[in-house]
Parts: sequence; C-alpha cells; structure tokens
Amino acid sequence: MNANSSFKWLYPSDRDIPDQFRIKDTIEQREYLCNGVMAEWRGPLQEVASPIMLATENGLQRKILGAYPLLTEKESLEALNAACGAYENGHGQWPAMSVENRIRHFEDFAYRMKDLKNEVVRLLMWEIGKPLPDAEKEFDRTIDYIHDTLESLKDLDRVSSRMVIEQGILGQIRRAPLGVVLCMGPYNYPLNETFTTLVPALVMGNTVVFKPPKLGVLLHRPLLEAFSRSFPAGVVNAVYGDGEKVVGPLMSSGKIDVLAFIGSSRIADILKHQHPKPHRLRCVLGLEAKNAGIVLPDADLDLAAKECALGSLSFNGQRCTALKILFVSRKIVDSFLEKFCKTVDQLKCGMPWEAGVQLTPLPEPGKTGYLTGLIEDAVSRGARVINQQGGDVLETLMRPAVVYPVACGMRLYVEEQFGPVIPVCPFDDAEEPIRYVTEADYGQQVSIFGSDPELIAKMIDSLVNQVCRVNINCQCQRGPDTFPFTGRKDSAEGTLSVSDALRVFSIRTLVAAKENDFNKKIIRSIIRERKSSFLSTDFLL
Ligand code: G3H
Repeated sequence: MNANSSFKWLYPSDRDIPDQFRIKDTIEQREYLCNGVMAEWRGPLQEVASPIMLATENGLQRKILGAYPLLTEKESLEALNAACGAYENGHGQWPAMSVENRIRHFEDFAYRMKDLKNEVVRLLMWEIGKPLPDAEKEFDRTIDYIHDTLESLKDLDRVSSRMVIEQGILGQIRRAPLGVVLCMGPYNYPLNETFTTLVPALVMGNTVVFKPPKLGVLLHRPLLEAFSRSFPAGVVNAVYGDGEKVVGPLMSSGKIDVLAFIGSSRIADILKHQHPKPHRLRCVLGLEAKNAGIVLPDADLDLAAKECALGSLSFNGQRCTALKILFVSRKIVDSFLEKFCKTVDQLKCGMPWEAGVQLTPLPEPGKTGYLTGLIEDAVSRGARVINQQGGDVLETLMRPAVVYPVACGMRLYVEEQFGPVIPVCPFDDAEEPIRYVTEADYGQQVSIFGSDPELIAKMIDSLVNQVCRVNINCQCQRGPDTFPFTGRKDSAEGTLSVSDALRVFSIRTLVAAKENDFNKKIIRSIIRERKSSFLSTDFLL
C-alpha cells in the first residue's frame, strides 16, 4: 500500500479549481437556529477542513473551509425548550394547524430551498468529497422527496376525511403528531438523510431539533434562514457541536418523544439508554449493513461485474446500501474477477468537480489507515490485492482494492468497511452465502446475480426472511424513495419511505361515538359548521 506518486497530480493547486466550484472566503458560522431566530454564538468554534488537499509550495495541505459553533448544554436545552414550547403539549400553533396550512409552509420552504442548490452542492463536494453529479442528485432527490411527501400526505388526509361506522360505532380516524423529534443524519448523505426524517416529522405536526452530522455541517447553514422564514418560531431548531455535550442533555431531559437517527448502532444504543423513560421513546433508526452480492455460476458476468463495481464503489463505497462483500461461485470466479478488476481499475479518481470522476477524497479522519489495516489483516491471513494499484493511498485518496480470497476469520469478512475495499469470497454451494447472510449481525439487503429462475426463486425464499430487500441482477439501493427502506437485526428500526415515514412520525388517533340520533346531531353540527379541524370531512385536492 505504497503512496503512489501519480496520486499527487490528482490534488489541485488553488488556481486549478474551476471558478464556480471555488470556496472564495472561509465560512465562519456563528449562527444556529433557536426559536425562529438566528441566534449568535460567541464561544469556541470547530474548524472544518476539507478532505480535498491543495498542492502548495509547502506540499499538500488540507483546504480549510471554515468553522461552526461548539455549543454547550445550555444552548442545546434552549433549542429543546423552543421545540417543546412550539409543540405546547400538542396545543401549539403548528401541531394544531390544519394539514392544508402545514403543506403551505412546506411549499414555501421548498421554493426557498431550490435557490440554495449551488451553494449546498458546492459544500457537499468540499465537505465530504461527493462527486458533482451525486451531490446534485442528493439535492434534487431531497426536493423531490419534499414534494412527494406532501402529495402522499394529501392522499392520507383524503382517506382519513371519511367517517367509518362499525358495530354501531361512528368513528373518524386520523394520524396525529407525537411531540418533539430529534433528527440526526449521517455524513454520507448529510442533506438527504437528515431531510428524509425531518420533513415527514415536521409535516405531521411534530416540532424538531436537528443536529447536522460531524462531517457535512456547513452546508446546512444556508437552509437555517429558509427554515426560520418558512415556519413558526420553535418548529425547527438546529444545534451544533460535540454530540456528547449537545445531544446527551437532550436525550436525558426525557423531553424527546422520537429519536430519528442514521448512524452506528453503538451510538443509537447510547442515545436510547440516556432517555429516562425509554418506553416513551419512539425510534426510527438506520444503522450498519454489510450487504452481500452473490454471483451464481450462470450469471451474466458483464452485467454482474458492472453492477458489483457500481454497488461497491459509488461514492467510494460510503453508502449504507453498498455491496460490502461479494460471494462468487468458484466455477466462474476467475472470469468474474478479470472483468470486475478491469471495471474497477477504469474508474476515474480525482476531485469531485471533474467530469467522470467516481473516486474522491475520503472525509473521515484516519479512514485510509483503517482501510489499510483491514487489507493488511486479510493479506496476513492468505488473501491478496488482485487489481492494479489496489489500496494505494495518498493522504485522503485511496485506490479501490479488490481483496481475494477472503474467508471467515478475516476482519473484512465481518466489519463494515464503508470505503473502497471489496472483499471477494469464492463458494462451491449456494448454501454458503445464504448461511453467511443468515448468521450475520446485519440484515439490510442482498443482491443475487444469476439466470436460472429455479435457483433464484429458491434463494429469494431463503433470503427474504434474513434481509428486507432482495435485488435481482442489480446492486443494492434505497431508491425509489416510495419503496420501503428498512433492515433487520443491527441494521434498522422502523421503516422509511415517502408514505411509511408519515406513519412512523405520527400515531393513529380517533374520535368515536355510539351511532344514535343524539350523537349524530352533535357530530353533524361540528362538521357542518367546521368547528373542529380533527373531526371534519373536508379533504384536500
Ligand atoms: O447510506 C445509505 C443510503 O440510504 C443509501 O441510499 O442506496 O440511494 O445510495 P442509496
């Protein structure tokens, strides 16, 4: 894993950066959003360094992007109190507001957000090294997610606007908010995955405190202003800083009703246990995964090699849905690896704004060292790096490494690498990868590559009770966002999708009465004179 001198030329000097992607001034963020206003922080800041290094006279140096506030428990609890105040035990303006009006606030927000695309996309590239097309996709997908959520809510509201009569009981069943939601997204999708919980939580009438992930922080700053202009005070609040200092007090206050967290199960467990009344806490969690790709003897090898490369290396393999281990039939493993390594070696490495670039600097501190350790462990136990320059590192850049043959007992067999290292295990019997998936701690998705309907059907039936999505002849992925996204075991809690998320952040609540003339007269009067926003047959068009 030697530093490769060809890498040096991939890092730009300042003058090589195209003007539209340049960070002209460093961003010293001192504001955070609390109770509808951009509060100013005068305390210490956390410096933000990009994973992108610049070639300077003094060698390679990390580009400093700016800094964000390191708030304390005090500011964090103020933000929480603002959210509690806006919720006001369900009596607040926001939870009591009609669905139609909540939707209007969101349309206003989406309108403002669209104008911020260039700024957010530029920061996605600089803060986490996301390639330009992926960064644009993340932004656009988030805007689509907002619109799709609003449409889905209208559908839900239409269904709930009718009365039901069952066994002599009249009832109207709607979904009501749960309270105060803490939203925390991951660094690999800092915008999209924060918003896939924040948006449904808010639109269902909850109030929110959110904390941006450790990396991908500054890109949220332009959105704070949009939040403060589009929503009533206290409905959205944002805290910044060290998790232990700002998140711990939120959880131990007991005032968080829903924890929406995408990250590691270790942190999720800590957060859950900090809540003094865990039975009150609802959790929506997206956690680790080690999705397997299984290449059967009759697979179309060109297709399998292409999808496995895409699945294991899009955004450098930093996706929870990435293929993180490949099981390949021994009968075709040599031909598969030849095609696969060729595809991997053709992927372009460079800076996020360069056309066609797929491999970019890794943002997590110490990441290349960790990945190198995984490779060394496998090599010390009999595996090899079999592609050209695989595992070569220079600072934050790493050439993808295809490691073969990987077997039980190696760290790469079980650890979620979340980076550009692809372990490949040969198998003789399709039962072997099934056993791996069955015994694994994770249970998100799997991909099967093959052409025999009988064998594929058998594998589907064995795997659907182990994971939550079985992909045939394609990589694992979350989208389309209308499909359910979840996992078993250590991989997730709760299901997200455009429509499922509306359900996750709300509770079915009903008004019921015996069907007699006395009650009918009361209900008729409430509905006809629109006295209640809950008990109402109005519906949205
Ligand atoms: O990191 C996990 C993401 O939810 C994966 O989404 O499959 O669309 O990249 P994706």
